[in-house]
Amino acid sequence: MDPVEKFETGLRAVRAEYREALEGAADEQSLRAANARLVGPNGRLTQLMKGMREVPADRRRELGRAANALKAEIAQLFEGRLEAIARAALEAELTGPALDPTLPGRQVPPGHLHAITRVKHELLDIFTSLGFEVADAPEADTHERCFDMLAFPPDHPATDMQDTFFLTHTDEGDPVTTLLRTHTSTVQIREMSRRPPPLAIVSAGAVFRRDDDRTHSPMFHQLEGFLVDEEVSFTHLQGVLRVFLERLFGADIEVRFRPSYFPFVEPGAEVDVRRPGGEWMEILGCGMIHAQVFENVGYDPEKVRGFAFGLGIDRIAMVKYGIPNIKLLFDNDVRFLASF
Ligand code: DAH
Repeated sequence: MDPVEKFETGLRAVRAEYREALEGAADEQSLRAANARLVGPNGRLTQLMKGMREVPADRRRELGRAANALKAEIAQLFEGRLEAIARAALEAELTGPALDPTLPGRQVPPGHLHAITRVKHELLDIFTSLGFEVADAPEADTHERCFDMLAFPPDHPATDMQDTFFLTHTDEGDPVTTLLRTHTSTVQIREMSRRPPPLAIVSAGAVFRRDDDRTHSPMFHQLEGFLVDEEVSFTHLQGVLRVFLERLFGADIEVRFRPSYFPFVEPGAEVDVRRPGGEWMEILGCGMIHAQVFENVGYDPEKVRGFAFGLGIDRIAMVKYGIPNIKLLFDNDVRFLASF
């Protein structure tokens, strides 16, 4: 076909159709697409204008002007439609269903402390109100502080029955072996080794053992307390523990001391509590700090006396909240944890 004729036919076709193409687009996205089909990089008019080279020179100026005029018309209609569509959208929003600013937003449920943490804080609060100081200690400690310095005889069955993971690291180049502490009694050795009496200290945290059933978890929590001074007797121990247990469980709690054995105390005892009409429940171990322990930390056993006690925080949480299975505390099921 003759390039001039081809150009003129194409121009006529675009002129005949562009209005309908742009006016038929109902939203911004389809309007932009229709516009691109006309004047975009591959648009019909764009393609046509690329064929201008083939038009003889004497017709180029005239046809070029016509094509540019059409392009300007298209641009004008496009801008007008764009504005009209935006106006219509705003109008629809203003006259449409009202926005209700009083609807409640999406709430983020507030969290709270874990039951174990709450009980731990409660226990520490009682002891600090009695003048005890709170100490921190690591969850991995040496065999010496966990057993030997607490006067466990070598090869005491407790070591095999309780120890789990051993860790090896270096301290200033020297290899050191630690284990996950089997009880918080390590704190007695740590604190007594680094300062002289008088001392009244409590410490709480995680401990680890080879125990796993409905009432035992391989990881659980203990609170350790001890007091060392010149004149300390078993009566002081009884007094402190009675006050503690009455604050924790209520003034009508019954408390009984039963002789028992722990290598690091002499005499040693276990303490049971009973609510009026209830069953006796073992709640803690205690005793007068053994002379051997004082010697091991560099105290003179002729000059100082002291008492110590240790209790299971998880057990107290279970009694307090009526939790039947210790594992529930560590499953991290929010439905359970949120219930108290
Ligand atoms: N460490 C003991 C245990 O884990 C508990 C204990 C008993 C701690 C008697 C004491 C104590 O301080 O005097 O079973």
